[in-house]
Amino acid sequence: MKKIRKAVFPVAGLGSRFLPATKAQPKEMLPIVDKPLIQYAVEEAVAAGITDMVFVTGRNKRAIEDHFDKAYEMEAELEAAGKDDLLALVRGVIPPHIHCIFIRQPAPLGLGHAVLCARPVIGDEPFAVLLADDLMDADYGQPSVMTQMTRLYAAEQASIVAVQDVPRAFTQQYGIVSGAPYRERLERMSGIIEKPTPEHAPSTLAAGGRYILSNRIFDYLERQDKGLGGEIQLTDAIARLLQSEPVYAYRYAATRYDCGSKLGYLQASVALGLKHPETAAAFAGYLRSLSF
Ligand code: G1P
Repeated sequence: MKKIRKAVFPVAGLGSRFLPATKAQPKEMLPIVDKPLIQYAVEEAVAAGITDMVFVTGRNKRAIEDHFDKAYEMEAELEAAGKDDLLALVRGVIPPHIHCIFIRQPAPLGLGHAVLCARPVIGDEPFAVLLADDLMDADYGQPSVMTQMTRLYAAEQASIVAVQDVPRAFTQQYGIVSGAPYRERLERMSGIIEKPTPEHAPSTLAAGGRYILSNRIFDYLERQDKGLGGEIQLTDAIARLLQSEPVYAYRYAATRYDCGSKLGYLQASVALGLKHPETAAAFAGYLRSLSF
């Protein structure tokens, strides 16, 4: 029985949809209420029992390394000032049993290439991939999306792509899967295609930025030709993987916010602002006071 211990966070993207905010800082450091996007993704992985976080970084991503590093001066100052709550917040960014590993993607050659860069630290295990700009807010009473997926993995021991239904007009923003019902919330995949036009989309089931992948994906990524946009696409390698072993599409129980887009980012800020204990009541009152 294999267990998911390692997660890959591809964070080398330029974040051009968020310029100028991302001119000098990574998009993954943009905050939703009080936490950067990358921290939400890491917390989701930690909740799923994953211990090794592998960040595939690029230029301008130093802030991510600093965020998950110890902040000696800040901790000393907060301690001296007796600000214990804040000290706990800063120290709690990364629990002591978690390892953070940083790998540099030498050039932005695509998501598939970014995942391939993690191969030396993944070794021969199955692993998770989390795209931090897809913020997942699990449905009430449900565990984190990655926890939902690792539980499934424990039962199926096969690759899993997180999916949700999208309006047909939006298929060009996603990897779109085809498959046949397997069991509740699960389809056995027969294909996946990157960003098809609505007319060519085989379904409206879209990949949502969370994957559990068999180690064999690396063999396909290594030999993967450039695909859409001249990039090495993870989707294309999954399309080949599923021809040799089962890959499942899992309809997660969560709301996904596309925080790589301005609208999704604002929606996430509102949704999480309405849940945050410090802001919930006052923010709800403020929203009610607005008349459109
Ligand atoms: C990537 C993947 C795509 C997936 C999407 C989810 O695209 O290539 O298959 O559906 O993430 O957010 P990106 O949004 O990075 O262009």
